[in-house]
Order: sequence, then C-alpha cells, then structure tokens
Amino acid sequence: MSMPFDFKNKNVLVVGGTSGINRGIAETFAKAGACVAVVSRAQEKVNDTIQSLKACGAAGARGFAADVREAEAIKNGVAEIAAAWGKLDVVVSGAAGNFPALAMGMSPNGFRSVIEIDLLGTFHVMQAVYPHLQKPGASIINISAPQAEVPMAGQSHVCAAKAGVDMITRTLCLEWGAEGVRINSIIPGPIDNTEGMKRLAPNEAIRAAVKKSVPLQRMGSTDDIANACLFLASDFASYITGAVIPVDGGWAQGGAALVGAGLADMLKAMPK
Ligand code: NAP
Ligand code: COA
Repeated sequence: MSMPFDFKNKNVLVVGGTSGINRGIAETFAKAGACVAVVSRAQEKVNDTIQSLKACGAAGARGFAADVREAEAIKNGVAEIAAAWGKLDVVVSGAAGNFPALAMGMSPNGFRSVIEIDLLGTFHVMQAVYPHLQKPGASIINISAPQAEVPMAGQSHVCAAKAGVDMITRTLCLEWGAEGVRINSIIPGPIDNTEGMKRLAPNEAIRAAVKKSVPLQRMGSTDDIANACLFLASDFASYITGAVIPVDGGWAQGGAALVGAGLADMLKAMPK
C-alpha cells in the first residue's frame, strides 16, 4: 500500500512509543515524513526506537526515558523536545500496563498501578503537551482499549482506567476545541504480536477464540491502528474531535461474550 498521507514538517510525539502498537504508530508517522519522538521508561528501548525511526526516514527523531506516573519528568521531557524542534503538532498517548487478575486476587497496589499508568499517566501527558499544542491543526490521539466500554472479567483495573481515559478525551474536546486542538481516542481490537495480546491470550485455544469473536475473523495488526492514527491526525479528519473510535474488525459489536468463553479456563486458574 502506498503512503496516502504526508506529514512532512509535522512533529509527532508518541508516549509509550517503544514497543508494540505505539511503536508501530511512531514508525508509520516517520515513514509518512514526520519528525517523531518517543517516551517510555526503559532508556535502551528509547535508544533502539530512535535508531529505527531514523531508518524509517525521521532524521530528527528524539526520545527520553520517563515514567508517565511522574508528572514533572513528563512535563520537562516534553518541553525539551518542543524547544528542540520549535513546535509540536501531533501527540499519541498510549503508555499502559495490564495483567489479568480477578478483583479478589489483586492487591490495592496492583489496581493502583494500572490506574496510575493508564489514567493518571494520560492526564499528566495531556497537561504536559497542551502548552505546546495551542493552535489550529494540532491533534491528540489517546490509545484506549475495548475494556473502556465492555466489562471483562479479570480486567477491573483496566476497565476503570480506560473508561476514564475516554472521558478525558471527551472532556478535553470541550475545553480545547475553541483553540482548534482536536482530541480523539482509538479503541484497538485484539492486535496480533503485542504484549497486550500475549498477556490476555496466552495460548492457542484463547487466540483461536479471540479470532473467531472478531466479525472480520482475524486479529488486527499494528498497521491497522497506525493507519487510523494517520487519518485522525491529518487534515482529512479536521471536523473529528471528542470521538472514541473502535478500530477492531467489528469486535465491539458482540465479541465480548465469546472472548469471555475463551478466557474461562484462564480465569478459573487465577487466585481468588
Ligand atoms: P506494549 O508493547 O507493552 O507497549 C506499552 C508501551 O508503554 C511500551 O513502550 C512501554 O515501554 C510503555 N510504558 C509502559 N508503562 C509505562 C510507564 N509507566 N511510563 C511510560 N511508558 C510506559 O503494549 P501494546 O500491547 O502494544 O499496547 C499498547 C497500547 O494499546 C496500550 O495503551 C494498550 O492498552 C492498547 N491496546 C492494546 C491492545 C492489544 O491487542 N495489544 C488492544 C487494545 C488496546 P517501557 O516498558 O519502556 O516503559
Ligand atoms: N496479578 C496480580 N497482581 C499483579 C500482577 C499479576 N499478574 N502483576 C503485577 N501485580 C501487582 C504486583 O504484585 C504489585 O502489587 P503489590 O505491591 O501489592 O505486590 C503491583 O501490581 C505493582 O507491580 P510492579 O511490578 O511493582 O509494578 P510496575 O509499576 O513495575 O509495573 C505493571 C506495572 C504491573 C502493569 C507491569 O506489568 C508493566 O510494567 N506493564 C507494562 C507492559 C504491559 O502491561 N503491556 C500491555 C499493555 S496493554
């Protein structure tokens, strides 16, 4: 497929961009001509991603290591990148943590960790990037998850956190719309070859049940999500803001029950 979008002269920050879906998004923006920066906790993953972004064409690729739970570190790192580039145009925020655990088998700290990474972390990122984005054409994309809308056993922490992420998207669309800043959420369906799927579909039986639960009968790819991000960040989406958009092969239209059936054995084995 040829690249249908041109992001030359656009600067893109991808938070949590050093692996999986978010790294795919970062590399796709780089291939579309953007200058791209990534943030995650592990310095070596940041370094490795910068090299690959350069190989994808983003000569000015940058990055820094920080935990989204640390507001000051995120704010300072973002400010440094915006100053080095002179401007910021697009932010994708997708740092997240997940592990399957029933509510009674999870400590308060386990619940807190996911809330603090996914929800509070998103808030920190929003506060850090906004001062550099106050202009028409600026675009923010929060990476949500089906758990925001579909309750899943073993996922109370993620369900609560991602529902909050989508309400941040919808609220900030009201607060920032007058300046022309657009903000949307993408809800990826099950995406193959990712850490998230390794954790939630750890064996072939569950993988097969997941695939069967998707109307398009396959898991998604990181390209499926990255291509949706290109569209949402482009001027072709200039009237879309406050939207929560599933990119999931139709999974949200009824897959939950089937996936629940596939996960039953895994849930039985979890501590109560
Ligand atoms: P992944 O490969 O584990 O990516 C998570 C990224 O976030 C990594 O770059 C990780 O790098 C970073 N990160 C984690 N905790 C962080 C923290 N506290 N501070 C800063 N960075 C942090 O996961 P994935 O499966 O591709 O998922 C990516 C996004 O898609 C997540 O938002 C997830 O909820 C969403 N999603 C995934 C699926 C799926 O099928 N995989 C489906 C729906 C939604 P470090 O370890 O270096 O920090
Ligand atoms: N079942 C139950 N509780 C678990 C757990 C599991 N599988 N994994 C972690 N926890 C609990 C820990 O026991 C700890 O609670 P405690 O202090 O009461 O014992 C708490 O969660 C925090 O664990 P810790 O390892 O200190 O957290 P962290 O901040 O270093 O890491 C995680 C956060 C747990 C989310 C970790 O899995 C992570 O970094 N994930 C990022 C990658 C990822 O999840 N990718 C998929 C994205 S969809």
